[in-house]
Amino acid sequence: MWYNIYGVKKRDRAAKNVRGTNFMPLVVPQEVIIKKYALSEAGKHIGRYGKNCLIIAGGHFYASEDWDFLKATLSLRGIAFDAEEYIGGEPVVDYVDGLAAEYKSKRGAPLVDCVIGIGGGSVLDAAKAVSGMLTNGGGVESYIDAKGKTVMTNAPLPFIAVPTTAGTGAEATKNAVLKHVGKKYKRSFRDERLMAKCVIIDASLYAGTPKEVTAYSGMDSLAQLIEAFTSKRATKETEEFCRQGLRHIQYLAAAYSEGDNILAREETALAAYKSGVAISNGGVGAVHALASPIGAHTGLPHGLICGILLPHVMEVNKEHALPKYAEIGRILTGDNGDDRHMADSAVAAVRSLAETLKIPATFRNERLVGLAPQIVGECIDGGSMRSNPHDFDAGFWAKFMTGVCI
Ligand SMILES: [Fe+2]
Repeated sequence: MWYNIYGVKKRDRAAKNVRGTNFMPLVVPQEVIIKKYALSEAGKHIGRYGKNCLIIAGGHFYASEDWDFLKATLSLRGIAFDAEEYIGGEPVVDYVDGLAAEYKSKRGAPLVDCVIGIGGGSVLDAAKAVSGMLTNGGGVESYIDAKGKTVMTNAPLPFIAVPTTAGTGAEATKNAVLKHVGKKYKRSFRDERLMAKCVIIDASLYAGTPKEVTAYSGMDSLAQLIEAFTSKRATKETEEFCRQGLRHIQYLAAAYSEGDNILAREETALAAYKSGVAISNGGVGAVHALASPIGAHTGLPHGLICGILLPHVMEVNKEHALPKYAEIGRILTGDNGDDRHMADSAVAAVRSLAETLKIPATFRNERLVGLAPQIVGECIDGGSMRSNPHDFDAGFWAKFMTGVCI
């Protein structure tokens, strides 16, 4: 049996060449650096991908001493760089197009040779999309269709991801979620080649994350791990990433209560990374299907929505994937028992964690009740809902929404 660097068992290499096998090679970053203070020696890794980088990061990063450390390590390796301050919020189509145009010559050639994104999921997705648009013509919208499939002609520039919050796992996904302000949509710019070439996980960068952000983003990772594990598209490989991620996420309460606990920060960062690999290769489910339109209608943070929905969705799904829910229960509680008991324990453990993190039990939003049929209509036929372990109909989800909104 082979193991890759992520500790995932590899099947016989020959299986790749056998027609009809369900072996699905995972799409993962080429290189993952996991080390406290890794950013201060990042030059030696980044130098393998480019010598003239575009850096996109939030203003608070440029104001920190981490920025001084990064500049020093890049200069030491002779790597030139341009620094762009991210505008904040979710990445929008116009921002990606504007930045890509700024770093292209008059003939359309890129003026840099790699893109580094430093920040939370939004910054990473923006940088990822810019890496794609620097080597392709037209606007990013022309590479996004309603089903999220793209026809990107040229390979993107190498993208290096330095996450600073543990949540979406955008450092390990092959899509960038972009918003169109005028047309009021949120869609994916998706291509396997958008996967980061290199991910640098430096736990010291997460230490200042505010409590609320730690809670919301952590619940996003947890929802992603549980949904990918129970998804109809799960493979043996994605399941193994989820098992590992569920073990790491047990440090979430510690990361929340002790923000400077570096071990807890690194563990939750690994949970987020593994959740990204898992959803990118194995899909999600009803939590993420519903979270997208709820987010569009309410403007609530994605992680908060996931945290509210997760225990409710687990409750209705557990009958339809009992052995998997039981395994989640065993991992999260460390207890053992029959499948039914352990599946119930999984839901109870998630509910209790949500309470600890001060995530409300429901949305307490009457307006959402009225919007339920529309919200369900917007996601019932999507890929995320189709990956849910059981196909409930639109009427079921509309009733479900009423329960979680009041
Ligand atoms: Fe998510």
